[in-house]
Amino acid sequence: MSNVRRTPMIAGNWKMNLTIAAGIELVKTIHYSHRHPGEVDVVVAPPFTAIRAVADTLNGSYISVAAQNIHWEASGAFTGEISGVFAKDAGADYVIIGHSERRQYFGETNETVNKKVKAAFGHGLVPIVCVGETDAEREAGRVHAVIKTQVEEGLAGLTQEQFGKLIIAYEPVWAIGTGKTATGEQAEEVHASIRELLVKLIGQEVAQKIRILYGGSVNAKNAKELLSFTNIDGALVGGASLKPQDFVEIIKSASA
Ligand code: 13P
Repeated sequence: MSNVRRTPMIAGNWKMNLTIAAGIELVKTIHYSHRHPGEVDVVVAPPFTAIRAVADTLNGSYISVAAQNIHWEASGAFTGEISGVFAKDAGADYVIIGHSERRQYFGETNETVNKKVKAAFGHGLVPIVCVGETDAEREAGRVHAVIKTQVEEGLAGLTQEQFGKLIIAYEPVWAIGTGKTATGEQAEEVHASIRELLVKLIGQEVAQKIRILYGGSVNAKNAKELLSFTNIDGALVGGASLKPQDFVEIIKSASA
């Protein structure tokens, strides 16, 4: 089934970086220095405070906007939280859910990831659901077990239609911000196993549609090789997405 065509996606996760002015400048530079990206979906995920301004700047361009997180409730007494309603209202079309930094520092679990994924769909946002093992879990030979649980519990109870739309990002925790990228073979092995798992969960046809992005120290130099693998359908880029020329190079490697 390797003949199924999935449009590659390059998503930039800015994390807790860039003010409104810096975010606007970054996306303008990306857009002006690469006007016709070809067949690739490009997304940027600014901090909440910059979503509106970045989305307005990008209006009519090929670049879409994502939030980095949402709360699962729509509204109410949840001081300091932002729901899918507000992310959508500010101009986001996607939302990153269950990033390892949220799991590590903010107590997110597969159960909260599941609630957030459902909330995202409920508010018209496409979730980019992050999974990935830690160094210790890899050392202990638990990569597949960990990811199987994250996928099964994080995506429990979704409809076929929702599965057909969602995006998965495999981000080995040991490769995030460390400069230690998984090799293409290492990543492809996990991506292929995620796809096999999806086939078991929802059948071949829908599983083949789902894009599985790789994240973890992706840069302008290693992107092309990583993206050459059958089941690596794009990249979720952290540090390199803050550098316009590097991000443009990564977009180019996806559309080449
Ligand atoms: P780096 O590209 O900085 O390793 O970050 C990856 C990441 O966490 C993207 O979500």
